[in-house]
Amino acid sequence: MSIRRIAICTGGGDAPGLNAVIRAVVLAAEQRGWDCLGIRDGYNGLLQPDEYAEGVVKLSRETVRGITHLGGTILGTTNRGNPLSFPITGEDGVVREVDRSDELVQKLQVRGIDALIAVGGDGSMAIAHALCQKGVRVVGVPKTIDNDLVGTSVTFGFNTASSFATLAIDRLHSTAEAHRRVMVVEVMGRYAGWIALYSGVAGTADVILIPEIPYDYDEVANKIRTRNQAGYDFSIVVVAEGARPRGGELSVREREVGSAERLGGAGEKVAAEIEARTRQDTRVVVLGHLQRGGSPSTWDRLLALRFGAAAVRALDEGQDGVMVALDPPTVRYVSLEEATERTKTVPLDHDLILTARDLGISFGD
Ligand code: F6P
Repeated sequence: MSIRRIAICTGGGDAPGLNAVIRAVVLAAEQRGWDCLGIRDGYNGLLQPDEYAEGVVKLSRETVRGITHLGGTILGTTNRGNPLSFPITGEDGVVREVDRSDELVQKLQVRGIDALIAVGGDGSMAIAHALCQKGVRVVGVPKTIDNDLVGTSVTFGFNTASSFATLAIDRLHSTAEAHRRVMVVEVMGRYAGWIALYSGVAGTADVILIPEIPYDYDEVANKIRTRNQAGYDFSIVVVAEGARPRGGELSVREREVGSAERLGGAGEKVAAEIEARTRQDTRVVVLGHLQRGGSPSTWDRLLALRFGAAAVRALDEGQDGVMVALDPPTVRYVSLEEATERTKTVPLDHDLILTARDLGISFGD
């Protein structure tokens, strides 16, 4: 079936590069004579039209002018609008999850949308896969600062986020040294340690704690004591938000119906245990959403533009149910099924883990 109109939406946590994808999609679609619509806040613009002046907007060369370098997303995003488990508050005040995907498919048809480009992380790709199985022609674009999507060597947003974390760690060295303190830096990444590993190695951390390697507080303290004995009386400890002690629990801040659990607090716990064991003054810095904000790096801009253009080419070539993926030096397509098979965590034999160990960095194991 030939295409006349496509729609694009951005879902899940934002990541630097979303606007670059939108721009590339709109311009590439326009070149093919296709209309391009933007759905607000994931699919909420379609599912909750009453909450918007315009839940679906027409995108054109004019509306995407000058946005390549901007963080965020001009369409807005949400992690509370999964059409497969949409949170609805009942009359009893209890929030329940309802499957609204059939309704969404119908709404796409009513708008004359021939194909959908879904930009997002693992949750968004799972939704895209489900929509595809219900007959929607869909291509996914992998986005997340966490870099935890399989099928693509990297997601856009990760480079900007990990570079920001590296700069933050760089800055903490001088103040840690001046006060002879332990500085604990908590970074994002959900259940994968990519941001902690990349920024920790690049920023010359002494200890890096990642979800893939449960740690032992005594080992962490030993590393700090060893440094102190060698005359280095300050240390930098990078903690992924999803890291947990051996036999211990994940640090979860909040669990809410209809959205993913919110992690947080891992850094505080590690700092308290370090201070208790070493008696050394310890401070915690949580980088939080600073990692997601701001302009995309050159790398992320280019990757996002490439992904956006490739998504439109995929539709033009008749592809369906695929996600664009980076397979250096080229961009290829993987099935949404493959892309949603599992979370891409850091393999224990990853070269960067081996490199870190050779540099004397401790994983607390
Ligand atoms: O998935 C991206 C991410 O930034 C994670 O690293 C983090 O755990 C989560 O989103 C935070 O989500 P929220 O924006 O809902 O606080």
